[in-house]
Amino acid sequence: MSVLVTGGCGYIGSHTCVELLNRNYDVVIVDNLSNSKRSVVDKIEEITHKNVKFYEDDVCDKDALRKIFNENKIDMVIHFAGFKAVGESVLNPMKYYRNNLVSTICLCEVMKEYNCKNLVFSSSATVYGTPRRVPIKETAHLSTTNPYGTTKLFIERILTDLYKSDNEWNIVLLRYFNPIGAHESGLIGEDPNGIPNNLMPYIVKVATHELNELSVFGNDYNTKDGTGVRDYIHVVDLAIGHVKAIEKINKSKGLFIYNLGTGKGYSVLEVLNTFMKVNNVDVKYKIVGRRSGDVASCYANPEKALKGLGFKTTKNLEEMCRDAYNFAIKNK
Ligand code: NAD
Ligand code: UD1
Repeated sequence: MSVLVTGGCGYIGSHTCVELLNRNYDVVIVDNLSNSKRSVVDKIEEITHKNVKFYEDDVCDKDALRKIFNENKIDMVIHFAGFKAVGESVLNPMKYYRNNLVSTICLCEVMKEYNCKNLVFSSSATVYGTPRRVPIKETAHLSTTNPYGTTKLFIERILTDLYKSDNEWNIVLLRYFNPIGAHESGLIGEDPNGIPNNLMPYIVKVATHELNELSVFGNDYNTKDGTGVRDYIHVVDLAIGHVKAIEKINKSKGLFIYNLGTGKGYSVLEVLNTFMKVNNVDVKYKIVGRRSGDVASCYANPEKALKGLGFKTTKNLEEMCRDAYNFAIKNK
C-alpha cells in the first residue's frame, strides 16, 4: 500500500512518515521545503532503515502532481502541506488562502484524474474558534478567529461537498489539538524559523538560552491556576492517529471527522514546571497580559476517535517535555 504524504518533511508529516514506514507502507513525499529541510528525508530513512521517494514540488502545481501519480501507484494521500502561522495569516491572509486552499483543490482534482479517492486531511481544533464548552466534541459549533483557521474550516467544507458529490471518496478530517514533543531519537522534531509563537518551542528556546525569558500570557483566566489550559498531544501519538485514519478508510467507506487529543488539559504553568523538572533545567519567565484571541481552556473529548479509530494516546506530558528538549539539544 502506497501513501503520498504532502508536506512530509514538516513537523507532523515527518513523524507520520516514520510510523507509516514502521508498518511497511510505501511512502512518497511531496514537499516544496518552504518550511522544512531536505535533510529530514535522510533522517526519516535513518530512523526506519527504509527508503522514501521524495519530490521537491509545490502541491499547487498540478503537472508536478500528475508526474508523481504517473510514476507511482498511489493508494492514499495524507495532506499536511500548508501554512500554519496564525499571526502571519492575519497580516497576509491572501498568502494563506492561496496556498492552503489552492493546494487542496489541485490535489483533489489530480487525485480524481487518477481515480485515487482516499484522503486524510490535517484540520485543527482551531475550527472550534472560541469553544462554548470543554471538553470539545466533534459536533461542537464551528467558527474561526483568524484567516489560518478559516482556511481549515473552508477546506473541511470543500472536502465535505466533494464527498457529497461523489460517495466514492473516503475522507478523514483530523482535528488536532496541540502537538508537541519529538521522535525519541532526537533526529526529527519541531524546528520553527525565527521567534516561535507557540508555547513549547518558546520554552525550549529559553531553556537553550536562545531567548531570554518566556512571557506567560495571562494568569487571570478561570482555570486551575489562572493560566491558559490546552490539550497537548505527543507528535508520535498524533502520527499514529494518521495510521489509524488510513486503516479506517481501508476497511470502512465514507467521510469521518475526529478530534486527535488526549482529553486532558494542562495549564501553561504545569507545562513549564514539568519541563523544568524532567529536564533539570531552569526556564526564566514572567507573567504578562493576555494574548489577544486566546481562550481560557481548550481540550478534546477523545471518545469518538477511540470508538471510530481505536485511537488512544499513550505518551504523557513528561515524555512530551523530555523529547522536545532532547531534540533541541541534539540539533542546537
Ligand atoms: P510544517 O510547516 O512543519 O509542515 C508543513 C509542510 O508543508 C512543510 O514541510 C512545508 O514545506 C510544506 N508545504 C507548505 N506548503 C506547501 C506546498 N504548497 N507544496 C508543498 N509543500 C508545502 O507544519 P506542521 O506543524 O507539520 O503541520 C502540518 C499540517 O497540520 C498543516 O496543515 C497545519 O496547518 C496542520 N496543523 C498543525 C498544528 C500544529 O500545531 N503544528 C495544529 C493543527 C493543524
Ligand atoms: C495556537 C493558535 C491556534 C493554532 C495552534 C497550533 C493563536 C491565538 N492560536 O493555539 O490557532 O491552531 O496554536 O498551531 O495563536 N503561551 C504563553 N506564552 C507564549 C506562547 C503561548 O503563555 O509565549 C500560552 C498561550 O496563551 C496558551 C498556551 O500557552 O494558553 C498555548 O499556546 P500556543 O502554543 O500558542 O497554542 P494555542 O494558543 O492553543
